[in-house]
Amino acid sequence: DWNMGDFLEKTINEIGQEVRDKKVLCAISGGVDSSVLVVLLNKALGDNVIPVFINNGLLRQNEEINVQKAFEKLGIKINYIDASEIFLSKLKKVKDPEKKRKIIGHTFIDVFRDFVSKLSGVEYLAQGTLYPDVIESVSVKGPSDVIKSHHNVGGLPKDLKFKLIEPFRFLFKDEVRQLARQLNLDDAFINRHPFPGPGLAIRIIGEVTKQKLNILRQADAIILEEIKKSGFYDKVWQAFGVLLDLKSVGVMGDKRTYDYAIVVRVVESLDGMTANWVYLPQEFLNTISTRIINEVQRVNRVVLDISNKPPATIEWE
Ligand code: XMP
Repeated sequence: DWNMGDFLEKTINEIGQEVRDKKVLCAISGGVDSSVLVVLLNKALGDNVIPVFINNGLLRQNEEINVQKAFEKLGIKINYIDASEIFLSKLKKVKDPEKKRKIIGHTFIDVFRDFVSKLSGVEYLAQGTLYPDVIESVSVKGPSDVIKSHHNVGGLPKDLKFKLIEPFRFLFKDEVRQLARQLNLDDAFINRHPFPGPGLAIRIIGEVTKQKLNILRQADAIILEEIKKSGFYDKVWQAFGVLLDLKSVGVMGDKRTYDYAIVVRVVESLDGMTANWVYLPQEFLNTISTRIINEVQRVNRVVLDISNKPPATIEWE
């Protein structure tokens, strides 16, 4: 790990020299990348870092609470903005995946801009952009070839005219995790699975509604709980649920049901660029499906995604 230790020291020094006593904004997602970034900036600049956590209403169960607690534990004060209602109203009736992504990206910028307009003396914006984000979002042929318009928290509002700090732009995820270890972050935190900026919106096929978010949150929490209990969590890249935009017939007691289906998606990967679905014990899968169908109202079917990337992608949208 000595080389990441060097990287850390060098980066802290460079940022300190560049920024001096100016202020740096940094959006937090709750993920490893932006969190490591804030901790690193905090080491370099102390209170001159302004971390902002925007709740877009598309987070997993209890995530907004968990993130705030994690930073409290680190002794770093964060600005929390609950913008869920704004995001959900903008997403009303929108079904197209790329439209959803664009709306979420733009709304994020609007909320961020609104927050920024109340500050003064901020010259820099720091982003936890990783190397794979850089190459997957930038196409050689033009914007029409972009695979998915990836949105990371901190997607820069172009007209805000900040100087940009992106210390991880040449790093892969496992290198950021090494940095996190150097910074003495909790293992449970370091090993958190990646979670996309557009959140549950790209795991709910079709229109995003409060009801669907509520269903997916419960199902996803069961998947995560079971995958952690089984020891698979640390062995896989991501494990999550997807809520399909269809209903199917089932039977509960002596009554016919017509309810939603949840997809279980578990993949292994090194960097998210390619991925394989993971072979899981049948008993384990049965536990997950039984629990979801018994515990989550309006779900009567659970299916398993057995597609690799490529040609599928990890997320469904
Ligand atoms: P896909 O679905 O493109 O996902 O195979 C590859 C990896 O990237 C994550 N992902 C995102 N991360 N903003 C992010 O920060 C995004 O817009 C986004 N879209 C996908 C995905 O979870 C997977 O790990």
